[in-house]
Amino acid sequence: MLRIAVLGSGEGSNFQAIANAIAAGELCAEITAVISDRVNSGILQKARKAGVPHVLHLDHRDAEIQARLVGALTGRCDLICLAGYMRIVRPPLLTAFPRRIVNIHPSLLPAYPGKDAWKQAFAAGEKSTGCSIHYVDEGIDTGQVIAQAEVPILPDDTPKSLHARIQQQERFLYPRTLQRLIADGTFSPL
Ligand code: GRF
Repeated sequence: MLRIAVLGSGEGSNFQAIANAIAAGELCAEITAVISDRVNSGILQKARKAGVPHVLHLDHRDAEIQARLVGALTGRCDLICLAGYMRIVRPPLLTAFPRRIVNIHPSLLPAYPGKDAWKQAFAAGEKSTGCSIHYVDEGIDTGQVIAQAEVPILPDDTPKSLHARIQQQERFLYPRTLQRLIADGTFSPL
């Protein structure tokens, strides 16, 4: 069984979507760890409620944070899924899990990397945007794209309504993409 760790800073809706897909038998994996840089984040609360065995807050003001993440995750997971994780992943964590760290980003990468990507697409007057799952590399949202879903920008959209529809797509795309990559052997137990 593939062991997944989820790292997040926010509400944890993507964590919940992954957990729900596992519970429904649609995703053949287990969530073995959830880590957040925010002490009272929704993701930590949802993870405790879901009974994830290893739920941890790690303070990113700690200079050794990447090494602490390696310590917390080595031997505990085969794949790291970033889901609303507002921190940059660097070595040694990056090098400890080569091509085993993925992220979900709310734009059609390579367009609009970085913060508030849906607001950037909205302000630019795009007709559509979406979400992307990609490998994590040294850059910010620059790693190879794995899967994308397009979301039209409607005439009466606001940044908020657009973001809500993108997040719906994220919650659909993330578990399904993980299952596809587990089924085809791209991600296998370490
Ligand atoms: C998602 O919209 C994701 O694209 C972005 O942060 C949000 C996280 O939401 N990077 P949640 O914490 O999974 O609810």
